[in-house]
Amino acid sequence: MAQSALINVIWKAAERAARGLLRDFGEVENLQVSRKGVADFVSNADLDAEKIIVAELAKARPGWGFIMEEGGVVAPEENDGPSWIIDPLDGTTNYIHGIPHFSISIAAIDKPLKNGGKLIAGAIFDPIRNEFFFAEAGKGAFLNDRRLRVAGRKRLDEALFATGIPFMGRGSDEQHDHYLAELKTVMGSSSGVRQMGSAALDLAWVAAGRVDGFWEHGLDIWDVAAGVIIVREAGGMVSDHQARSKALESGNIVAGNSSMHSGLLKMLKNSRQK
Ligand code: IPD
Ligand code: CA
Repeated sequence: MAQSALINVIWKAAERAARGLLRDFGEVENLQVSRKGVADFVSNADLDAEKIIVAELAKARPGWGFIMEEGGVVAPEENDGPSWIIDPLDGTTNYIHGIPHFSISIAAIDKPLKNGGKLIAGAIFDPIRNEFFFAEAGKGAFLNDRRLRVAGRKRLDEALFATGIPFMGRGSDEQHDHYLAELKTVMGSSSGVRQMGSAALDLAWVAAGRVDGFWEHGLDIWDVAAGVIIVREAGGMVSDHQARSKALESGNIVAGNSSMHSGLLKMLKNSRQK
């Protein structure tokens, strides 16, 4: 399919940034033995990737705002103007450890979220597999040149779920216990749970039907914005843990096809009542 001008702009930015990330990833693999300095090195790779993305996007769409993992928020020139939402390296912990599973996530929103902004486009690039997932509102979701649909599975006992496990500094002890209760419920009722380490790719893989659903708590808007529109355009459902359309605002997310989304919501609710 011919990509729109907007998706082409995102592709160019992601592809440029990916070149640097891939080059530095080779270096990270070498640095593993020394361990010293890997985190600093990676945080520079991350910053460089974001700078490249911002420069490309600002050139193509002057006046748009930015919501960035590294650089913070830059308001759009017009009060109600559009913004980019950028995670230059999602899966940083994988990257630091030399695990080849990470992505670049870029979304566009038509106006600030607080003024009722809606996602207009999103793309997630996995440079290791050369997979570019993208979607625009009302135009469907794609992986490279192939149309995406969420999986058609309806039975929970056949379903495979992705999740993000909280870690040190992410959530209180009590929240960790809640998460363990959720995990126990889902693992006891499904054919498996995977924790792969890039929330953006988890959502892209829901859209591609590789996993049937995904849930996580405490994410940031740049982790999920592109994935949310890609899953929805692939025919899937996305909400927060209370079934409200508030995943972007709260960072608590549940996604899947409509059966798996409601199945997951029920399991998560049951785990809270146990
Ligand atoms: C992280 C990844 C991970 C998720 C974490 C995120 P980062 O983002 O998306 O899968 O479990 O909650 O913070 O730090 O690699 O950009
Ligand atoms: Ca992230």
